[in-house]
Amino acid sequence: MDVSNSVLSQFSLEGRHFVVTGSSSGIGRAMAGFLAGAGATSILVARRQNELEEAAEAIRSAGGKAEIVAADLSQRENIAEIAAQCKAKTRNNTVDGVINAAGVNLRQAVEDITLDSWDLTLNLNLAVPFFFTREFVPEMQAQQYGRVINIASLQSSRAFPNGLPYGASKGGICQLTRAMAEAWSKDNICCNAIAPGFFPTELTAPVFGNDDTRDWAASQTTMGRNGELDDLSGITLFFASSASSYITGQTLNIDGGFTAK
Ligand SMILES: NC(=O)c1ccc[n+]([C@@H]2O[C@H](COP(=O)([O-])OP(=O)(O)OC[C@H]3O[C@@H](n4cnc5c(N)ncnc54)[C@H](OP(=O)(O)O)[C@@H]3O)[C@@H](O)[C@H]2O)c1
Repeated sequence: MDVSNSVLSQFSLEGRHFVVTGSSSGIGRAMAGFLAGAGATSILVARRQNELEEAAEAIRSAGGKAEIVAADLSQRENIAEIAAQCKAKTRNNTVDGVINAAGVNLRQAVEDITLDSWDLTLNLNLAVPFFFTREFVPEMQAQQYGRVINIASLQSSRAFPNGLPYGASKGGICQLTRAMAEAWSKDNICCNAIAPGFFPTELTAPVFGNDDTRDWAASQTTMGRNGELDDLSGITLFFASSASSYITGQTLNIDGGFTAK
C-alpha cells in the first residue's frame, strides 16, 4: 500500500457538497474556493447576488464547482427555506458540510450599543450558525457523515475596545461548537471552529486601513505579520475532510501566534 497516497486521499472532498455562508467576500469566499479546489461543490450563500456570482465564476474558471443562493440569513423565518434552496443544489438533497462565515462587527462604543444592534450581532453571529446548520443535520445523520466549521475570533478569548456584542457572540461560538459536537458527533458529524487572527477583509477594513492599527496587530503575533487568506487553506481542508475524523468540539487559533504571546 502506498501510505503517503492513502493519507493524502483523506483530504479529498471529491463528490462532497459544502454550504459556505458569508462567501460573497473575505474569509467565506476564500474558504469556498479552497473546498472547491479539493473537489467539493461549494454552495455560496450571502445577500449580494453580484458578488456571489463573481465568486462562483472565479471558482468555475479555476476548474471548480460552485452554486449560489442569494439570501439574507438574518431573517429567521426564512432559514428553513434558504437551507432547502441549498439542498436543492445537491445530488440527493444532502449537504455534507456547513461553514458558518457570515458575520458582522459593528464596532460600537459601549454607550452606543442598542438593543437592536445587540440583537443584529448576536443573531447573525451566533443564532444563525445554530439554526441554519441544524437544517442540514437530518440528512447528515442519515448518511452518518458531516462536517461543521464555525468562525470564532481573537475576541472569543480576548476583549478589544468597541467589541462588546461581537466578543460575546464569538465567545458563544466556542461553546456552541462544543455543544454542537455533543449533540451531533455520535453520528459522525464533526463540529469545529477556527479563530482567525487579523486577516484583511471588508470586516477588518478599519484595522488594515490604518497603518498604526495594522502594524500593532502584526506586532502582537509571534510571527510578526498579519494573516493572509491563503493561510486558512490547510485548516479548511483538514476540518472539512476525513483527515479530522476524530476531532470535534475544538476551536483552533489561526493567528500567527497572537494568542501564544
Ligand atoms: N477578517 C478577520 O480578521 C476575522 C477575524 C476573526 C473572525 N472573523 C470572522 O470571519 C467571518 C467572515 O468575516 P470576514 O472577515 O470575511 O468579513 P466580510 O468580508 O465582511 O464577510 C462577511 C460576510 O458575511 C455576509 N453577511 C453579512 N450579513 C449577512 C446576512 N444578513 N445574510 C447573509 N450573509 C451576510 C457578507 O455578505 P453580504 O454582505 O453579501 O450579505 C459577507 O460575505 C465573520 O464571522 C468574522 O467575524 C474575521
